[in-house]
Amino acid sequence: MMEFGDERAHLVLMAVRPAHRRRGVARRLLDWLLESATTAGIESLHLELRAGNQAARRFYRALGFGETILVPRYYGGTESALRMVRVLRPPLPADVHWQPPAHWR
Ligand SMILES: CC(C)(COP(=O)(O)OP(=O)(O)OC[C@H]1O[C@@H](n2cnc3c(N)ncnc32)[C@H](O)[C@@H]1OP(=O)(O)O)[C@@H](O)C(=O)NCCC(=O)NCCS
Repeated sequence: MMEFGDERAHLVLMAVRPAHRRRGVARRLLDWLLESATTAGIESLHLELRAGNQAARRFYRALGFGETILVPRYYGGTESALRMVRVLRPPLPADVHWQPPAHWR
């Protein structure tokens, strides 16, 4: 399951039945999601997982995701969430009209 914003997409849920793991099913699913997000012009794909979930950490690292921050007690108990991100394209200039105050220039 994935949520799409204008710049960022968030991967909410990804699971493969235990009997079908390590056969490339999740890799194919995620490759398809990454291709869809890239086609949609999305800049980056974000997700959270339980920091102790070594299988998922290795899986996302193998798919080119980087680990960004640990969020303590994210799941209500003592466990931390690990945030991971994969950048899909370089940033574009924002449509921002803000200018620094005159005395800064
Ligand atoms: C994480 C999960 C989705 C991976 O699904 P999968 O179909 O088994 O993954 P793939 O077969 O496509 O694996 C692709 C690569 O990821 C890495 N990988 C996947 N599972 C791994 C594991 N248990 N240990 C080490 N590396 C692993 C490997 O590099 C693998 O390539 P290889 O098999 O050629 O070595 C699956 O383990 C799962 O459903 N876990 C429970 C739910 C979960 O934790 N979801 C993620 C949190 S949102």
